[in-house]
Amino acid sequence: MLIRPITIAALVGFTLLTACSKNEAASAASTAAAPSATVAAAPAPAQAAAGGVEKGEKVYKSTCAMCHGTGAGGAPMFKSKDDWAPRIAQGKDTLYDHALHGFTGSKGTMPAKGGNASLSDEDVKAGVDYMTSKAT
Ligand code: HEC
Repeated sequence: MLIRPITIAALVGFTLLTACSKNEAASAASTAAAPSATVAAAPAPAQAAAGGVEKGEKVYKSTCAMCHGTGAGGAPMFKSKDDWAPRIAQGKDTLYDHALHGFTGSKGTMPAKGGNASLSDEDVKAGVDYMTSKAT
């Protein structure tokens, strides 16, 4: 009696695996054409200087958006002037400090580096710059 559901589960699992490996083959081809992951992992210094906004956008999307994109936990919403104006008024140094080291305000808790310890200080600052630049 137990054999049947297990067999079905095994079949479903196998079908999913097959479907996945087909997709992987397809996406492997497009990844090879655009190795953006490699660029993100090791930006050349010249690119970093020229691509501050681009870097900030990457940091935002990879780490900050999960809260700031939705307002989760009381996070000031991305692109909301009302949410950001009073914070920007505190000055960039305060915003950098709170983003780098974490901060608990009246709305909730901002974790240090957005909870992503693999970000460098420069990455976090670029993320702050990006979010504040869009809140106007
Ligand atoms: C786990 C959710 C979460 C993530 C992820 C997160 N934040 Fe926040 N952030 C918050 C919350 C909540 C607040 C508001 C805290 C308050 O004012 O009570 C906040 C506030 C801030 C502020 C305003 C600080 C101030 O002094 O008013 C900045 C700047 C900020 N976050 C930057 C970032 C950056 C940059 C990232 C990505 C690297 C990030 N946050 C990721 C939750 C998050």
